[in-house]
Amino acid sequence: MEKSILITGGAGFIGSHVVSLFVNKYPDYKIVNLDCLTYAGNLENLKEIEGAENYTFEKVDIMDEVSLKKVFEDHNITDVIHLAAESHVDRSISDPLAFVKTNVIGTVNLLNVAKSYWKDYSKHLFYHISTDEVYGSLDDGGFFLETTPYDPQSPYSASKASSDHFVRAYSNTYKLRTVISNCSNNYGPNQFPEKLIPLCINNIKNNKPLPVYGKGENIRDWLYVVDHARAIDVVFHSGKNGETYNIGGFNEWKNIDIVKVLCKIMDKKLERESGTSEKLITFVKDRAGHDHRYAIDASKIQQELGWEPSLQFEEGIEKTVDWYLQNQEWLENVTSGNYQKYYEAHYE
Ligand code: NAD
Ligand code: DAU
Repeated sequence: MEKSILITGGAGFIGSHVVSLFVNKYPDYKIVNLDCLTYAGNLENLKEIEGAENYTFEKVDIMDEVSLKKVFEDHNITDVIHLAAESHVDRSISDPLAFVKTNVIGTVNLLNVAKSYWKDYSKHLFYHISTDEVYGSLDDGGFFLETTPYDPQSPYSASKASSDHFVRAYSNTYKLRTVISNCSNNYGPNQFPEKLIPLCINNIKNNKPLPVYGKGENIRDWLYVVDHARAIDVVFHSGKNGETYNIGGFNEWKNIDIVKVLCKIMDKKLERESGTSEKLITFVKDRAGHDHRYAIDASKIQQELGWEPSLQFEEGIEKTVDWYLQNQEWLENVTSGNYQKYYEAHYE
């Protein structure tokens, strides 16, 4: 095999799209998906590729140094694409330490194992997947650039910022080859229905309230998850050592407007009278320390690496709604907890 790539967090939302893309596009690469299967890890996301010859799954926690070393040795890992993380801001507010453990200590653990396993650093890459939230919150003007100073505001973004700093420190101190990308909000198939878009789709389907934090005036910049996976492919193969790339689709929406778009699409798909779903909108207590606006300037990756999103938002959101409606079983397994039995049933 030309490369043996360790993809961490591959059973999660974005990771599952990255694993699928790499397994299908690069039959000469061995793809090792390492994931400890937290509540957010779901092997059903990988049903279509789990039998592929160039794919292997390892149920390992990135906190577990001994098992990580064994995975590097067993698969002769040549490169890492690191996505494993605690990813939900609301959970970080109620349990910050879980985020320090996985996002900070777990990342340093992985860096240490890569540093000691690899001999000639020029032949290997440690690619760290990060978020635009590390840059803090914007007022109504301006964009996040790669040079924007870090100013994380939530325990989640503080933990991601910390892990980014460690990756840069390993590049500077030990000369590990590294690259980091910081992406805006993703949406699409396989996203756990705790996040705004799948939560609303699921609640509209079940006639449940749509909880909009505060006045719904906060702004997020949305990118279809497959376009993020395509960007990761491009950065992995063409990104320059030590560089950072912002990834986004110049696609800002107020939360309330996103929720209303979902209501309209769902009314049509479920053949409900127009305006039915909007009645479910419920304004609730705001998220503590809620960042006002995120907006990525993605000019660098577009100009230097030639990546750009393939889907317009209207098309992406329609595909997303269709996917959730056509994959009711996935949604039921996720909401009932049944998906957690998939590993035992298929791998043990
Ligand atoms: P997710 O929560 O859907 O998936 C995370 C995956 O990591 C899960 O499969 C989980 O089981 C695994 N994991 C968690 N802790 C682990 C541990 N200790 N050891 C091994 N595996 C562990 O997350 P996501 O939304 O797919 O995000 C993936 C990455 O992309 C994260 O690093 C996140 O910070 C980043 N990111 C996410 C977004 C977004 O909009 N979702 C945007 C930008 C960046
Ligand atoms: O910007 C990238 C980040 O996007 C990623 O790094 C995170 O991993 C990912 O979870 C996401 O963070 P957000 O906090 O922006 O995503 P979430 O879907 O939780 O919320 C989107 C917006 O909707 C946010 O302003 C909060 C609001 N919201 C969210 C939920 C879950 C609501 O109004 N009601 C809700 O029930």
